Amino acid sequence: MKPADGTEQDSGEDDWYKRREKQERIRELENAGIMKRYRNVTFENIEKRGLPDNEDIRKNYEVVKEYATRNLEWNLEHGFGLILAGNYGTMKTTMAVAVLQQWIKDGHSGLLVPMCSLIDNLYTMRSLNREEWAKYEMRIRSTPLLIIDDLGSENTDQSWVLSKVNSIITERYNKMLPIIVTTNLSKGELEGTYSGRIMDRLRNISQYLVFNSESQRRTLAS
Ligand SMILES: Nc1ncnc2c1ncn2[C@@H]1O[C@H](COP(=O)(O)OP(=O)(O)O)[C@@H](O)[C@H]1O
Ligand SMILES: [Mg+2]
Repeated sequence: MKPADGTEQDSGEDDWYKRREKQERIRELENAGIMKRYRNVTFENIEKRGLPDNEDIRKNYEVVKEYATRNLEWNLEHGFGLILAGNYGTMKTTMAVAVLQQWIKDGHSGLLVPMCSLIDNLYTMRSLNREEWAKYEMRIRSTPLLIIDDLGSENTDQSWVLSKVNSIITERYNKMLPIIVTTNLSKGELEGTYSGRIMDRLRNISQYLVFNSESQRRTLAS
């Protein structure tokens, strides 16, 4: 028999609110460019899962966490970012996402842009929907925290790609808006690909962390 005080209905309502909250959160994360794979990537969950037994990763993790937890507001106000450079599979994207998750959790907004899809979007959106593209590009240029994921993975043969990247970095530099970059390229490669002057600027306002370890990705078979 149903309880007369309506508890059954209340718990149904609770579930409804929880589901709504979860959907809201997913929407908020996707709006910030954080898709399903990285939805639960937070400092808390990284630690719960346990960091790999690797000195580089552990040392860099401490620096990134400190950047994000102790001084985040100050760092962002002063336009200080991070460059996470090194081998693939060494948790660079994971750590960058954890910073953005922290920032969002604190009630702020930011945007993660995978470099290859940025260029892809440029092609498709620019021709299909110029207005949408203009809005997206405006966000890239002015969001309080931008993550450029996998800088160097895009096709840089075309000069307009390079000039787009250069102009985004320069504009954010001038506005003192920080960028967190992840890249597989070395310092030399970065400077050889993009304008040396712009990479120099980026390095001046970012802490440069190198990941030398082996990939931590496991194949399904292992
Ligand atoms: N504690 C952890 N939290 C999250 N990912 C971890 C952890 N330990 C190992 N990993 C693994 O590290 C890999 C890092 O991936 P990713 O961040 O995409 O690397 P990168 O961006 O450097 O190529 C993932 O495959 C993930 O399974
Ligand atoms: Mg990555």
